[in-house]
Amino acid sequence: MDSKKENLWKVKYLLDIKKIDKQHQYFFSICSKIASLCDMARSGKQVRIGQFLVTIFELRSYAFKHFATEESLLVKYNYPDLFKHIEVHDMYLEKIHEFTNRIKNIMNIFRLLLIRIL
Ligand SMILES: [Fe+2]
Repeated sequence: MDSKKENLWKVKYLLDIKKIDKQHQYFFSICSKIASLCDMARSGKQVRIGQFLVTIFELRSYAFKHFATEESLLVKYNYPDLFKHIEVHDMYLEKIHEFTNRIKNIMNIFRLLLIRIL
């Protein structure tokens, strides 16, 4: 990736919970990779769909790992808004699911177009 975007994570996101802070930073680094790929595509540079998909899938997988860690800590410390927070996690996962479906549909359209052309 040549136009690397700086990590979108900011110091103000620190919670002083080492494990969670480390995961948040990694999470944001994946988001930064996606933002860089989008910027490259928008500026007309070649971005391979595989590169994009791998990064989206990495974000998806890491979300499951991170949310499991976070939710177990919320339970352990009797976080008062536990279920509200879990709902936010679920909404996030739903967004990733929708995004993945959109990519799948776009790829299917390209496949159909290629079949017609070839
Ligand atoms: Fe989190």
